[in-house]
Amino acid sequence: MKVTVVGAGAVGASCAEYIAIKNFASEVVLVDIKENFAEGKSMDLMQTASLNGFDTKITGSTNDYSKTAGSHVAVITSGIPRKPGMTREELIGINAGIVKSVSEQLIKQSPDVILIIVSNPMDTMTYLTHKVTGLPKNRIIGMGGALDSARFKYRLAEAMECPTSDIDGMVIGGHSDKGMVPLTRIATRNSVRVSEFLEADRLQKVLEDTKVGGATLTGMLGTSAWYAPGAAVSGLVQAIACDQKKMFPCSVMLDGEYGLSDLCIGAPVVLGKNGIESIVEIDLVEAELSQLISSAEGVKATNTLLNDLNL
Ligand code: 2OP
Repeated sequence: MKVTVVGAGAVGASCAEYIAIKNFASEVVLVDIKENFAEGKSMDLMQTASLNGFDTKITGSTNDYSKTAGSHVAVITSGIPRKPGMTREELIGINAGIVKSVSEQLIKQSPDVILIIVSNPMDTMTYLTHKVTGLPKNRIIGMGGALDSARFKYRLAEAMECPTSDIDGMVIGGHSDKGMVPLTRIATRNSVRVSEFLEADRLQKVLEDTKVGGATLTGMLGTSAWYAPGAAVSGLVQAIACDQKKMFPCSVMLDGEYGLSDLCIGAPVVLGKNGIESIVEIDLVEAELSQLISSAEGVKATNTLLNDLNL
């Protein structure tokens, strides 16, 4: 199993590192436009192989996509990250052109590749990738919900002073501060609903902290976070590589599911060797559905900005 990661910045390098440490891929190719940057990151990562006990071969390439040929999965992290105070949506002008060109070059080399989009605004970049590549919808996956759900579980565990391994929970909707829909109603601690442990106002704070999870870290770090995004991507890649049929909320092209269509937005999907094996439609109560619909309106509004970009 060969995996390409485009963008050797903090998020891309973390993806490569977590994929290698999990030791399920034979090869990871890191690509970056900055001369020798991906080569340097790969060499540094390879020098951790004997220390971390992995056999995955990591190589780097300065924009030479021929090195990515025959990739089963490719992750697109390229583009600029947000700076403190910026929304993900503000990145669209620069990132759309980059994501378009990267996805086209990847497909030329690996016609059967499954693409995972990380670049922001992620739901719109996932939609753009569908429009420019015309790939079947099972082969384009947006990474957002897996990350937002991990942040949700972290906040729930923090509030309940328990280990995160006790928590199950999911965030659907758009990967934006306003668009996320953390499903607090069905989140559990060892099968017990979290509302049995937390008062409504504490649960509301968990929800709000989750929605601004990325912005909080951007404010603290001066740039976008990388460990949790990298770990979330590696989980998606592993589910595909190992045909795990594991369920994650991911940005997916909807065609009537949840009453929505012609947009990519976070919904639960099953991931396996074909990429998205199925979209899971869970029963949402009216309030959750209306939050999802208003999140979809926000994503669609960002998608319309693509029309002005002359791509
Ligand atoms: C985040 O940290 C990368 O969008 C990303 O939320």
